[in-house]
Amino acid sequence: MAEERIAQRLYADFHMEDPLLSERFEETLDDLLAACPVARSRDGSGYYVINRHEDVRRCARDWRTFSSADGWMLNAPEGSIPILPEDSDPPYHNTWRHVLNPYFSRDNVTGLEDFARACAVELIEAMVPRGECEFIADYAAILPGRILFERILPVPVEDLPLLFRDVDISSFGPVDERGPAFGRVHAYLDAFLRSRSEQPPKGDLIDLIVAGVDKDGAPCPWEDKVYIILDVVFGGLATTTHVMSGAIHHLATHPETRVALRADPGLIDAVVEETIRLYPPVVAAARTVRAATEVAGVALKPGDRVALNFAAAGRDPEACDQPGKFDPRRGQIVHTTFGVGPHRCLGEHLARLEIKVTVEEFLRRIPVFRLAPGTMPTYESGQLRTMKNLYLRW
Ligand code: HEM
Repeated sequence: MAEERIAQRLYADFHMEDPLLSERFEETLDDLLAACPVARSRDGSGYYVINRHEDVRRCARDWRTFSSADGWMLNAPEGSIPILPEDSDPPYHNTWRHVLNPYFSRDNVTGLEDFARACAVELIEAMVPRGECEFIADYAAILPGRILFERILPVPVEDLPLLFRDVDISSFGPVDERGPAFGRVHAYLDAFLRSRSEQPPKGDLIDLIVAGVDKDGAPCPWEDKVYIILDVVFGGLATTTHVMSGAIHHLATHPETRVALRADPGLIDAVVEETIRLYPPVVAAARTVRAATEVAGVALKPGDRVALNFAAAGRDPEACDQPGKFDPRRGQIVHTTFGVGPHRCLGEHLARLEIKVTVEEFLRRIPVFRLAPGTMPTYESGQLRTMKNLYLRW
């Protein structure tokens, strides 16, 4: 589509599953931002796509007007299973966040650093002698689940490969395979939670999920507890893999960032943050409009579905100078990759830690590396985005 701006087509009819987004991700987002602050999709029951940084921020904060209760997924198939706290509004939403937040707080996550580093070192040292790896299968698909299951949410870690595969299919697989894969993860976690509810308490987060919270003055239903653990497992397994792969991809193709980090290890936090800004795994989340409103001159009415385009908002030149440039030395790194407002990501501190130890320990053991000749990473994008493979040589 060389002679025509991608956005001219997107403005008339854009949907998040369009292969364009997967193939020409950055270019598509930049064109959306430049040409249509609010795009329209006629896909399924139709929705609007809100792209600009300030608009995304405002709408994500205003949960009364932009409700999450109808689900984060656009055009969810009939009979879809919700996830919580994602698919809920305050006050019920807050009661669950109060249960979950302490386990994912900055302080609690800081205490996991030695363990996270040891896991990273073990995986990296296993690949060093080989001189090559496929980074996703050998590392990025394993580390986040291991840390989550062994230290925060004690799901049996031996089941991680199976769970990761089904989370991956239900997030990025062929559309007709997603429902059954999601169903398998749901059935697994339902059975796991039931078996824990029959055992004596162990003093962990699973006990608190089994105990539940009140909903409308009565104990919440069993299903809601399963939706909670589903959300945490999906959040933990379907996201950070992409960002840590993005960091290693960037370093493989930009030796100057490797040199800069070696000269100034204090740059690591900014490198992590730029990676999070430029490799967003949650492209967009849906909301339902509850009251007539307007965004960038587009009138929205109750019942309209909208997608908050977190990925585009992180590349808005109004919020970030030269947004396409990976620049860890830019003053303040502003993005919306973790969302904004009440639904802001539960796992942001954990994700940052995992990316940081990955970059530090990888560079310590494999200071010079490149993409395997003749290879390029491939991606899958819809509302979520992930790198599917990353072949490296050193
Ligand atoms: C770099 C990695 C990650 C990114 C970019 C990311 C991104 C996001 C975003 C954008 C949202 C908000 C969605 C919305 O507003 O509707 C969100 C929510 C959430 N994330 Fe993450 N996430 C990441 C890692 C994690 C991890 C490691 C976990 C848990 C282990 C997690 C668990 C959750 C949960 C449970 C929610 C729902 C929060 C709520 O509704 O209150 N995420 N995440």
